[in-house]
Amino acid sequence: MAVSPERSIPEPYRQNAFVATRLRHTARMHNETAVPWWRRGVFYQVYIRSFADGNGDGTGDIAGLRSRLPYLEKLSIDAIWINPWFPSPLNDGGYDVADYRDINPAYGTLEEAKLLIAEAADRGMRVMVDLVPNHTSSQHRWFQNALTAAPGSAARERYIFKDGRGPNGDEPPTNWRSVFGGSTWTRVPDGQWYLHLFDPTQPDLNWANPVVREDFLDILRFWLHLGASGFRVDVAHGLAKDPEFPDVVDESDVEVHRTERLDHPHWDRDEVHDIIRGWRRVLDEYEGSVMIAEAWVANWDRLARYLRPDEFHQVFDFEFLESAWDAEQIKDAIDNSLVGSGAVGSIPTWVLSNHDVVRHATRYALPKDLESKPWLLDGDRAVLDPLAGHRRARASTLLALALPGSVYVYQGEELGLPEVYDLEEDVLDDPVWRQSGNTEKGRDGCRVPLPWTSDGPSHGFGAGEAWLPQPEGWGAFAADIQDGDTHSTLELYRSALATRFEMLTGDEDIEWLPSEPGVLAFRRGGGMTCIVNLSGAPVQLPVATILIASDEIADGFLPRDTTAWII
Ligand code: GLC
Repeated sequence: MAVSPERSIPEPYRQNAFVATRLRHTARMHNETAVPWWRRGVFYQVYIRSFADGNGDGTGDIAGLRSRLPYLEKLSIDAIWINPWFPSPLNDGGYDVADYRDINPAYGTLEEAKLLIAEAADRGMRVMVDLVPNHTSSQHRWFQNALTAAPGSAARERYIFKDGRGPNGDEPPTNWRSVFGGSTWTRVPDGQWYLHLFDPTQPDLNWANPVVREDFLDILRFWLHLGASGFRVDVAHGLAKDPEFPDVVDESDVEVHRTERLDHPHWDRDEVHDIIRGWRRVLDEYEGSVMIAEAWVANWDRLARYLRPDEFHQVFDFEFLESAWDAEQIKDAIDNSLVGSGAVGSIPTWVLSNHDVVRHATRYALPKDLESKPWLLDGDRAVLDPLAGHRRARASTLLALALPGSVYVYQGEELGLPEVYDLEEDVLDDPVWRQSGNTEKGRDGCRVPLPWTSDGPSHGFGAGEAWLPQPEGWGAFAADIQDGDTHSTLELYRSALATRFEMLTGDEDIEWLPSEPGVLAFRRGGGMTCIVNLSGAPVQLPVATILIASDEIADGFLPRDTTAWII
C-alpha cells in the first residue's frame, strides 16, 4: 500500500546539527565518559500546563519554560521530558492529540519549540517529547474523516471500528472496560462502534494498519529532526489488539491497566514488539537519542522484552514507586529492577512521582497499608502525617539518586510539594473523575501549578490566576524562599544532584551491606555508601565522612526516615 505521510518536513531527515554540536560540546565540558548519557541521566518531567506561564493566561507554556531554563540548569539535570504539548482539546491533559506535528497554541508555536530545544542544548540539557501512539484525540482530522466516511473505508481503517453484537448491533463488540471507567466502545450514528481504551474522546489507532505505522515513523523523524533527543512513549503495552476481539474472560482483569494474563486481548501482546523495533531503527539514525516506555505489564520477564537491544532503551518500572515506606519492599523493588533490567543489558529507572500518581510527600505521609488513590476521595484526613511525609520524601530522593541507573524527577518534587487532595469538585479536570462516575478523584492534585514566589499572583506561576487553583499555603513551598536556604528541599536536590554527578563512576552495581532491621545500606563502586533509615528509631552511623544527608545528623546517629551518603 502506498503511504504518503502528511505534512512532513523536507527530506533528508538529519540530526539537527545545531543541537547536536551544542550537546557534544557540553558533554565534553561535563567530562562525559564512554557511558551513554541516559544510563545515569537525570530526567526532569515538565507538565507544561502547570510549570510556568509566560503570557499570563493562566496556562503554562513554552515561553514560561524557556524563562526557567536557568533554574533547571542549576539543578544539574540532563534532560527535560515534556508531557504532550501538541494541539489538543485537553480532555486528558494533552494525551488526546489532535496533531502530532505541531504545538498547542495555548503553549506556543513550533518556532518557540525549536528555540527551547536549542537553548536547552546550550545549557547542556536535552528535550524529550511525549509520544502518544495508542490513541488520538477525537478532534484529530484522521478521526473526523473516519466519522464522516463509510464503514469499511480507508479512513475508518485508521481506527478500530466494529459492528455491535446482539439485535441490531446494539451491544458493544466486546466486554472490555476502559481504564478510565465504562465500556471501551462508543457508538456512532451509523451504528458502528469505535474502540477507546481510555476516554471516549481518545479513539484507539489501528496499529495493524501499515498507514498508521508509516505515519508514526514520520512523526518520530519530525521531532528528532527538530533536535529532540527522543521520546517517552505513552501506553506502549496497549498498541496491539487481538484480531479476533475476544471478550475478556477474567472479570478481575477487566479494568486494570496492568494485566497479570499473558494472552490478554489488548495489553502486552507480542505483536507490539514488531512496532517498537521499527521505531528503534529510526532512533538509531540519530546520535544520542533515547526511547523510554510506559508499559504496565505483569512482571520483569515481560518488561524486559521491551528492553531488548533493538527495542526501548529504558522502561519505567513502577514497583519502586508503588512500594510503601518499608525497607523490605523497597529492597525487593531495587533488586528486581537491577536484575530485570541487567538481564537484557539495560539499567533501571527510578521514579518517585509523576503526573499520574499521588505525590510521594503525601503517599509517605499515609499509613503503610493505606492505598493513596482511594484515600483522595473520602479517606480519613486525620491519618495524614505531613512531617513524616516530608522527611521520607527527602530520604527517598537521596536513595533514588544513589542507585545505578537514571532518575526521573517530577516537577515540584524538588520543592517538596505535597498532593493537593482537597481540590473542590467543580475544578476537577481529569476525565477519571467524570468517567468513574465520581468514584475516583483523579490526578489533578499532583498537577497544580508550581509556586515560584511566596507571594504575588499565582505565586509567580504567571501574571494571572492559574488554570487550576493553588491551595492556601502554597507560597510556603515557593522556589524563591527555598533558594539559598540550606535546609530547603530545593537545595537538597541541588546539592544531591551535583554530588551525584561527581561521585558516580561508570560502574552500575551495588553491594548490599549488612544492616539492622529496617535499615538499607549499600556501597557503590566509587566507594560511596548510602544508608537509609526506615526503622522508626535513630541508628548509629559508622565513622565516616558524610557527603550529604536528608536531615540533621547529631552525635553520629542517623535519625529515623533519613538517608545519608557517606564515604
Ligand atoms: C498514560 C499517561 C496518562 C494518560 C494515559 C492515556 O498512562 O501517563 O496521563 O491519561 O496514558 O493517554
